[in-house]
Amino acid sequence: MSVLSIPAQQIVPFPLITSESKGNFVIDNNTKIVTSENLKKQANFLKGYLFKFYNLPLNIQIKKPIGNTNYISLQTSENVSVNGAYALDIMTEKIEITSSNDEGIFYGIQSLLQLIPVHKNNSLQIACKKIQDEPRFQYRGMHLDVARHFYDVAYVKKYIDLLAYHKFNKFHWHLTDDQGWRIEIKKYPLLTQIGSCRAQTLVGRFGSDVYDGKMHKGYYTQDQIREVVQYAADRFISVIPEIDIPGHSLAALASYPFLGCTKGPYKVRETWAVQPDVFCAGNDSTYTFIENVMNELITLFPSEYIHIGGDECPKERWKACPVCQNKMQSLSLKDEHALQSFFVQRVEKYLNSKGKKIIGWDEILEGGLAPNAAVMSWRGTKGGIAAARQKHEVIMTPEDPLYLNLSQSKNEDSVTQGGYNSLEKVYAFEAIPKELDSSDKKFVLGLQGEMWTEYISNPSKLEYMLFPRISAVAEAAWTNPVNKNFERFKNQLPELFKRYKLWQVNYSTAYFDLQSSVIPFDNQIAWKLETKHKSKIIYLKPDNPSKFYEYKNPVLIDLSGEWAAAVSDSSEKLKWIRKNFQLNKASGKKIILKNEPNQKYAGESGFTLIDGIQNTTGMLHGSQFLGFIGTDMEVTIDLEELIAIDSIKLHCFQQPPSWIYPPSLVEFSTSADSTSFSIMPQTHKSGTKHLVYKSVNHRIARYIKIKASNNGIISNGLPGAGGKAWLFADEIEIF
Ligand code: ACM
Ligand code: ZN
Repeated sequence: MSVLSIPAQQIVPFPLITSESKGNFVIDNNTKIVTSENLKKQANFLKGYLFKFYNLPLNIQIKKPIGNTNYISLQTSENVSVNGAYALDIMTEKIEITSSNDEGIFYGIQSLLQLIPVHKNNSLQIACKKIQDEPRFQYRGMHLDVARHFYDVAYVKKYIDLLAYHKFNKFHWHLTDDQGWRIEIKKYPLLTQIGSCRAQTLVGRFGSDVYDGKMHKGYYTQDQIREVVQYAADRFISVIPEIDIPGHSLAALASYPFLGCTKGPYKVRETWAVQPDVFCAGNDSTYTFIENVMNELITLFPSEYIHIGGDECPKERWKACPVCQNKMQSLSLKDEHALQSFFVQRVEKYLNSKGKKIIGWDEILEGGLAPNAAVMSWRGTKGGIAAARQKHEVIMTPEDPLYLNLSQSKNEDSVTQGGYNSLEKVYAFEAIPKELDSSDKKFVLGLQGEMWTEYISNPSKLEYMLFPRISAVAEAAWTNPVNKNFERFKNQLPELFKRYKLWQVNYSTAYFDLQSSVIPFDNQIAWKLETKHKSKIIYLKPDNPSKFYEYKNPVLIDLSGEWAAAVSDSSEKLKWIRKNFQLNKASGKKIILKNEPNQKYAGESGFTLIDGIQNTTGMLHGSQFLGFIGTDMEVTIDLEELIAIDSIKLHCFQQPPSWIYPPSLVEFSTSADSTSFSIMPQTHKSGTKHLVYKSVNHRIARYIKIKASNNGIISNGLPGAGGKAWLFADEIEIF
């Protein structure tokens, strides 16, 4: 029989101190779990895991076995330590897990379980060692959006197990949104009769306007909620429910139209993104409704925190609603942000009176923070920094990099939310911003990974998006920074993948995928390819799809059409990635941007506009578009010599529900000397979502200027009214 033993560094999140010693402990059918009555819950978890994954039926006993060998002991120690701290001592004759607190014992068990070989058929040998460990943060969270797609109780329990294996202690359950209300509220039965059902769901990317025609529904009964809360508590995970108010509430409005400003009719939303109908903030019956919902919620969730959302609440209905306007006047509120602040503070006051604290998304800072609220910083970390400076508790969950529903590969071929959060980036996240004074750092309680499910309709996709990034989030939350090391973590991946298989979870190997980027190359463009595999990379050019070239250095793109590349790993089928390059006179030339785009959609600055790649997917990847919020785009291209040109094109994109509007004006001009420019004839617009502005005129020029004016403040009646419009551009072509 082969014998396997795994070094301590297989534990994820990585522990604080490990010292190796000689010898092994072997777990077999006769191993006993020895514990005291008060640690039965932990003992049962250990027993359950070993039975489920190794078919080992260990006995639990309260007294030490005769002979004093072959047992795993769980015992409470006298030395008081931080919550979650534990010691794990693996000796040849026994294993001891000690902690001064209940969760510490549980985490000691999690570490032990990760030291057991994943291969069921081998002797389960564990190398002797001592581990002393403790969490860095007391808030280590993962979130799950069950509103966009419903996940049943059995799956939510599996999700909670996966969190427990990673020593997470908070599960943020996003239970309501525009697309579904998922929790039974006895006083308001229509919330689930109507609000939990959506007639159909968008197919493909947002803006596709294609629907599946199939009802999507589901909710948890209060008994099921209690069952999940207990299941999580048995794993030392506190469940924080989120009822998203005052925005993201269309499912509630569809159930009870009196809650909205316009009184409807409303229907549960069938597509994604922010929409304008929100709770009426002027009507007292809105607050009565919310208080009644909260009354039931707090009997179900023992968590000290209740999440009240507060994110992405458009103000256009409030601006037009006499009841909301009256409320503002009677309270002397200066604007709708102040009204939102009043709304949140009123709900906070109610929940505080019931002994609960609120958490809200960072928008709750706008118009004034509720006095005791904790802030979840999602639009970067700046909201978290501002809140900590105001001595409010903060949980860091910035979209970049902790939204795990964003792609983890630049070659992702399934539909995902736009944006790119690589494993490396997630791993490197540091929750305590350098900007904070040391006295304010303590307000950052920890961090949380997010899982929004617009484009994640099934467990397999969910796990593919989660793994291995969840393991990286766990290290960011638990591991002391001195022990964080991506080299080590990356080397653990093959072994981690085996453990994921043991857990029967799907995972992504994107980290090892071929990565491609387009780079400037001597005033032309080149294709750069990289892989973490040892194998070589091959590529194909558009003119001969059967001639393979071996990749050595970035390849000069000298032909328009589809190029392809793959890692030539003999053990696997070639996985081609393809890029369609469209060369023109602008490709790779010098380009100067007058204003830089917004950070979120910054691409490779001006180069993105002349990289030969036109966005055809409509996916809002920062690497494919430049996005300007409220500002104009103006660029100058230097063609390096006087040449004949016949036409100029600018490719833009519009998606009003995402506040992306077409430019109000596009103007091309040319110059021989970069000082006196002459305007090209009027541009013609074509396309519906992907807009192409074109001007045709023969002339000789060296410098080309392209101006696209931002649509400005969004007009009333349009999505995002009153806010600044986005302007998106992706490519310039010169012929
Ligand atoms: C959020 O992503 N709207 C919190
Ligand atoms: Zn109103």
